[in-house]
Amino acid sequence: MIKIAPSILSADFARLGEEVDDVVAGGADYVHFDVMDGIFVPNISFGVPVLRSLRRSSSAFMDVRLMIDRPIRYVKAFCDAGADLVNVHVESDTVDQNIFALQTVKAMGRKAGVTLKPGTDAEALMPFLPMADLILVMTVEPGFGGQSFMVDQLEKIRMIRMYLDEINPRCELEVDGGITPETAPLAVEAGADVLVAGSSVFGKNDRAAAIAALRGKY
Ligand code: DX5
Repeated sequence: MIKIAPSILSADFARLGEEVDDVVAGGADYVHFDVMDGIFVPNISFGVPVLRSLRRSSSAFMDVRLMIDRPIRYVKAFCDAGADLVNVHVESDTVDQNIFALQTVKAMGRKAGVTLKPGTDAEALMPFLPMADLILVMTVEPGFGGQSFMVDQLEKIRMIRMYLDEINPRCELEVDGGITPETAPLAVEAGADVLVAGSSVFGKNDRAAAIAALRGKY
């Protein structure tokens, strides 16, 4: 079954705990936690203190994505604060430093993920493929919710699906950016297992119906 990971970047931050409870009650599989530092991406979101607070109020699976420069500096802090999965961008540091970051996450008993920006080729994943628990393909330029889905990324998703089926079949393939009931089937057909969605879930009053609409009947 396709997993749905609502992105809290589109939630009402004044009621964040309730927003998370609402989507979890509505069938969310993961809670997608977008960390932005204003350097790696042109926006600043939230960090360790917010995750720690959410962890105290929710047992949901925290899918923490670091859109920060040199994530090796913070992966341990996010694991300590309650992340179930920590995901770094391949473009955010050298291959060696990012591999060390993922090894650190796994040594703390958490899952490790890697993300590709739209402009980065699938081949940049090769050093990480055998060890990753999740690969995320961005279908918008990272930094903001509410953008349109980039259909030119579908071929890359298909390619990565093939690589994973061959090299690491237990690894999940996540897609993020512009996911709606219209674009979700395209991403799933291309090979996605997990769909991140911000505005198409938190932008709706009935979150359970919004999640069901994304999950569709694949
Ligand atoms: C953007 C974030 C996404 C974003 C998705 O950089 O990584 O998770 O919140 O929002 P929508 O689904 O509205 O494109």
